Amino acid sequence: MSSYKIPVIPGDGIGPEVIAEGKKVIEAAGEVYGFDIDWWDLPLGADHYVKTGETVSEETLKELGHYRAIYLGSLGDEHKVKAGILEKGVLLKMRFYFDQYINLRPVKLLEGVETPLKNKTAKDIDFYVVRENTEDFYAGIGGRCTKGLSKQQLKLKREMYSVKFDLDILTDSDEIAYQIGVASREGTRRIIDYAFVLAEKRNKHLSSVDKANVLTDIYGLWREVFTETAKNYPNVKTDFNFVDAVTMWFVKNPEFFDVIVSPNMFGDIITDLGAMIQGGLGLAPGGNINPEGTSMFEPMGGSAPKYKGLNKVNPIATVWAGSLMMEHLGEREAAHAILAAIEKNLAAGKVRTYDLGGTSKTSDVGTDIARIVKEQGRI
Ligand code: IPM
Ligand code: MN
Repeated sequence: MSSYKIPVIPGDGIGPEVIAEGKKVIEAAGEVYGFDIDWWDLPLGADHYVKTGETVSEETLKELGHYRAIYLGSLGDEHKVKAGILEKGVLLKMRFYFDQYINLRPVKLLEGVETPLKNKTAKDIDFYVVRENTEDFYAGIGGRCTKGLSKQQLKLKREMYSVKFDLDILTDSDEIAYQIGVASREGTRRIIDYAFVLAEKRNKHLSSVDKANVLTDIYGLWREVFTETAKNYPNVKTDFNFVDAVTMWFVKNPEFFDVIVSPNMFGDIITDLGAMIQGGLGLAPGGNINPEGTSMFEPMGGSAPKYKGLNKVNPIATVWAGSLMMEHLGEREAAHAILAAIEKNLAAGKVRTYDLGGTSKTSDVGTDIARIVKEQGRI
């Protein structure tokens, strides 16, 4: 019998509630497919930060680095900690620290779920967004000039930014802020290559997203690398798309897409739109993947503190993220069985949370999916 030890960060808001259902379903799959899970819960998040002043310690990161997958609920609680601190200090920190350069987000409308797109069905909405996860405007390089800076610092910033102004007459209204997007050739190559491999396994169609008509340096490099990489995959059909146009096609012709590869920030934005067309954030999972290192699986939605403790929100995104995690760990059959059970729960339409028009609780949905996993047996 295989056995896995999996670190879990339930996190803030609804995180613990949805993670509990994810564990329940994975444990049910373990009974059927013959594996055991030893969960290691870590108390990271808002309360931990308030208590200790620490986001996540180097020591914890080092320890987590011994595992292949982390299961994450959700981070952030604006009532307790200023927005941005936990997002940057824990979530982005881990994505960067473990070099999880792939953010894999399936956009798939499951049977029994309604999409807001008129006349579109499950066969029209079924693609993957492969979001780059470590570079671009998330690189964290930026600054603000005038406020709170000494004349010496200002002079440096001025030289760096080539802005001409007289330091002696500067006021607050002269303040500027800048943040720089970064793309490395290797960082671009590895994500595009991953997307080609995925496209080759699916319907052999890969779409690139960028804004190379305006941000010509950063996305000029992106297009160049895409074109070079494409030569290694002659049977994959490709196209370039500007991100603004992609938002139109998601709504008008989602059936056009098979696999999409996107720089980090555009990937962030278009996957929220993707979540909506597949039925909402309650149904959108994601995997932060480093194929050789420590990966992390999470629902795409936030911590929604106002729903905390109400046993109300949809746990399916988290359960589905659990399926992605088990697939990553090599339990392919269990992973497929979990997704099949989610599909059966949705198709039956009886046990569903309020976002899907139902009245069931978070825990009812997890219990129902776990029951189906066991009932369907090995598939
Ligand atoms: C996401 C989130 C994060 C991101 C935030 C919380 C930092 O929106 O996972 O999509 O921007 O990547
Ligand atoms: Mn996002």
